[in-house]
Amino acid sequence: MAQSETVRALVLRKAGEGIASAVERVPESALPEGDVTVRISHSTLNYKDGMILKGLGTIVRSYPHVPGVDFAGVVEHTTSPLYQPGDDVILTGWRVGEERWGGYATKARVRAEWLVPMPPGLDARRAMALGTAGFTAMLAVTTLEAEGLSPGDGEVLVTGAAGGVGSVAVALLARLGYVVAASTGRVEAHAYLRALGATRLMDRATLAAAPQRPLQRERWAGAVENVGGTTLAAVAAQMRYGSAIAVCGNTGGNETPLSVIPLLLRGVRLVGIASVMVPLPQRQAAWHRLARLLPRDVLDTLTSSIAPLDHLPALADAILNGKVRGRTVIDLGLCKEITRG
Ligand SMILES: NC(=O)c1ccc[n+]([C@@H]2O[C@H](COP(=O)([O-])OP(=O)(O)OC[C@H]3O[C@@H](n4cnc5c(N)ncnc54)[C@H](OP(=O)(O)O)[C@@H]3O)[C@@H](O)[C@H]2O)c1
Repeated sequence: MAQSETVRALVLRKAGEGIASAVERVPESALPEGDVTVRISHSTLNYKDGMILKGLGTIVRSYPHVPGVDFAGVVEHTTSPLYQPGDDVILTGWRVGEERWGGYATKARVRAEWLVPMPPGLDARRAMALGTAGFTAMLAVTTLEAEGLSPGDGEVLVTGAAGGVGSVAVALLARLGYVVAASTGRVEAHAYLRALGATRLMDRATLAAAPQRPLQRERWAGAVENVGGTTLAAVAAQMRYGSAIAVCGNTGGNETPLSVIPLLLRGVRLVGIASVMVPLPQRQAAWHRLARLLPRDVLDTLTSSIAPLDHLPALADAILNGKVRGRTVIDLGLCKEITRG
């Protein structure tokens, strides 16, 4: 088969009880249905990608599978009036990389309405330094603003701060003029978080246990909460009267011993952030705002590594163990050789 008719992809296959992965050449005709084919230059690694790469949960139901919930690249073919060949585009969410083949490949075929045109000021690599994590952080900050948060209200807490969503949230809040407190389990990330704009660094152990009392000293004017579990309960007990928590993540567990008392006596609001199916106008607005707010040097600070496809299985272990700082960009131009294993 001619090289031009194949796509280089990280393919997951069932192997007994587990998952095997290999960088393979697959026929372009095997890509799913869609009206736009994108030549992908960059993808990235999110926590959910880590779960998919390790076959955890029931996110992927059909194998062989090409994961990667985000990608950026150039439109190659299209039958949609929305795009022209040569247009730079971003995709995050829509269950791409979950229910259908995703961004860990040199090409993807998707529906035009899922794509976002590359906003001015961003390129593919830097868009993937944001990816779903950055998009989610932008949604969280915009949500807190819609709930009434303004700079000058007091400190805003970000948990899981050295991770992807956390890092971008710290940077965004700082650029918008908020005083940012970053909760992290990694002392070695303190200088990095200060560079992104955090002014208070907290050991995440102080928020790890369920609170002894449902109401504690009012500390936080808002919170971007990425951990869930007991941490969400601990954060809720410290929220100020009338404040809101943007509930983004569950790295610390799905079940929470949250008391309703902070909600009833302080009017604390919990607002869930769901990034996958956000409608296009809101999606485009978030990407434009990200591009406006975060200059290139901040995006480069957020990028801890730029890796080839075949590093992803090892990187999946790292992100699931909380060892990835900030964001990992996957460069599809790296790793020309086909590897199996
Ligand atoms: N709602 C949505 O649409 C959406 C979108 C994207 C992501 N998410 C979720 O948001 C969370 C963060 O995603 P991400 O891509 O930013 O992941 P990430 O890069 O792995 O960051 C997660 C961070 O959480 C902290 N953490 C990990 N395990 C922990 C534990 N057991 N207890 C306390 N803290 C822990 C660590 O921060 P420190 O090292 O700083 O302590 C880690 O860096 C995940 O749960 C993900 O599924 C949700």
